[in-house]
Amino acid sequence: MSRYLVHPGSQLRGRLPIPGDKSISHRAVILGALAEGVTEVEGLLEGADVLATIAAFRAMGVEMEGPDHGRLRIQGVGLHGLRAPGVPLDCGNSGTAMRLLAGVLAGQSFPSTLIGDASLQRRPMDRVLRPLAAMGAEIIAQDGRAPLRIHGRPLRGIDYVLPVASAQVKSAVLLAGLYAEDPTCVTEPAPTRDHSERMLRGFGYPIERLGARACLRQGGRLHGQSLQVPGDISSAAFFLLGATIAPGSDLTLTGVGINPTRTGVIEILTRMGARIDLTALREVGGEPVADIRVRHAPLQGMVIPPRLVSLAIDEFPALFIAAACAKGRTVITGAEELRVKESDRIAVMASGLRALGVTVEERVDGAVIHGSPLGGGRVESHGDHRVAMAFAMAALVARDAIEILDCANVATSFPNFPALAQQAGLLLAVADA
Ligand code: S3P
Repeated sequence: MSRYLVHPGSQLRGRLPIPGDKSISHRAVILGALAEGVTEVEGLLEGADVLATIAAFRAMGVEMEGPDHGRLRIQGVGLHGLRAPGVPLDCGNSGTAMRLLAGVLAGQSFPSTLIGDASLQRRPMDRVLRPLAAMGAEIIAQDGRAPLRIHGRPLRGIDYVLPVASAQVKSAVLLAGLYAEDPTCVTEPAPTRDHSERMLRGFGYPIERLGARACLRQGGRLHGQSLQVPGDISSAAFFLLGATIAPGSDLTLTGVGINPTRTGVIEILTRMGARIDLTALREVGGEPVADIRVRHAPLQGMVIPPRLVSLAIDEFPALFIAAACAKGRTVITGAEELRVKESDRIAVMASGLRALGVTVEERVDGAVIHGSPLGGGRVESHGDHRVAMAFAMAALVARDAIEILDCANVATSFPNFPALAQQAGLLLAVADA
């Protein structure tokens, strides 16, 4: 079980290339596999989560070369070309893999089983099972959780209003809609990442988007593509945090995706006083991209508007640390979804911050964090990659070193985090314990 030991007192400087976006990488593998012809992906994230999706499609007969330095060549089999996997498909730690695959597999002509690690087995799958069942899918779960036993069968369309703002559920229903008899529509209560809609269109599949509602119908085709995956703003977020809180920092993060459904972290940090500048704006693979320069600045606590929560959903571990380093109080509400991520991120961040001497009032749907100097000590990440990376950055301004336990899962989303963080100046050592 690997742990980090991070010493305080340094600053972050230089230019860092941010590795590929996890959400977009999963979708590139899925749509590339279901497309006709060859898809060439560059900049793919070679994290364990995406490798799980690749392995799943290989087990269903899709040939792929790579990934190698972010390049993956997928020999698409078309929407009806998957073969029955002879083994359960292991989604590891990845909720995206499990929920999106459930959507694809529900409409196949063969049975399949989805399994995952201990964290994934605790996470709610009923949010995808309910709409898929309404489409006629037959999926057996254990109390709404994995393993999922899927008996693929013909589906009917659905006009579904999501009860929670979830891009994974939206995507699962749309992917199932590729196999449904009638049109399938999904309406979301708040904007969530729209990579599935953008990429379906990029692969030539007709999809209509009207306000909060996205609709598609069976009968279209996906055409193999060359596509470049932008850098992951959710990975960049740890460096936005670190450079903001550490005096003397001046860091440029290159090639970062700035899709407006993902930039809540920039808006929140900027409102708290961060000095963040976007340069070299361009489009990559149908997604907006920029280089992001971030310099140290003092932060002020704030009440985070609930409308920004779904636009920054994966960045709350970093935002909890920003709040602890800010002057005054920061209030997070409307964020109950954080309790069903890779860990219960409200409870885990609150207890980690308390271990460093910060006062945090936990609420059902968020927390109130009282900014104060950080002490050092030992923090449990509970195997949550983003919790581990957030506390690594907190050490920049702590009084003493911070030891973070159970960091192996950083490899799910950001395998070269320790190397990039050291390159930027973070005094981080990895130990196997
Ligand atoms: C993701 C959507 C988000 C996010 C997750 C990746 C995706 O989850 O937290 O890390 O790729 O669609 P929800 O859609 O469940 O909120």
